[in-house]
Amino acid sequence: MAKLSLPVILVNFKCYLEATGEEALTLAKICEEVAKEKNVNIAVAPQFTDLQKIAQEVSIPVFAQHIDPVKPGSHTGHVLVEAVKSVGVVGTLLNHSERRISDEDVKVCVVRAKENGLITVVCADTPKTCQRLAVFNPDLIAIEPPELIGTGIPVSRAKPEVVTGAVEVVKHVNPNIPVLCGAGISTGADVSAALKLGTKGVLLASGVVKAKNPKKVLVEMAENLVGNLP
Ligand code: G3P
Repeated sequence: MAKLSLPVILVNFKCYLEATGEEALTLAKICEEVAKEKNVNIAVAPQFTDLQKIAQEVSIPVFAQHIDPVKPGSHTGHVLVEAVKSVGVVGTLLNHSERRISDEDVKVCVVRAKENGLITVVCADTPKTCQRLAVFNPDLIAIEPPELIGTGIPVSRAKPEVVTGAVEVVKHVNPNIPVLCGAGISTGADVSAALKLGTKGVLLASGVVKAKNPKKVLVEMAENLVGNLP
């Protein structure tokens, strides 16, 4: 099973043009550069079509943004976990608010990912959803209130109670599941606040992907990633 060192900054490339094709590779290399320079853990989640090239070119962990609950066979248009594994991916996001799946599909995908040694980061919109999905024993859970996604209003500072609530309920279900938080994270202070609330890192997108200077933002975040764990 692949391992993800914590704390971590997980950059979700989503479908932003700034992180598609050659731009995706450029951004992934910037993430790798900062990870090496600052000796911190940074991982990336590019689009499917960019996974193989990026996984071949960078040494930091590469995640898929989704996989489907299917086994090898006649499933047209689905994403098979063995396929993303074969190109060097170490894990996958699941149930992102922009790619919601049923609880049952989360359960099946977590099993399929584990069977193939892939790390699962299951996304949840509320602490209650965290509690429900933690039962399926994903490797990590990311709490992300959808209403803050893309706003630049950081969940770690705008809704700290949602983050601490998620950390608490997940700890009760399975204390071995680290919690990440996401939505609006765009500065070093947001990262520092997230760690102080008991998370083991952040899941973010626009704050880095759409930044005028992604490297500058990432360096500031990296400098706040260490030394703030409770
Ligand atoms: O997966 C992380 C993402 O949903 C957060 O989006 O743009 O608010 O960092 P953003």
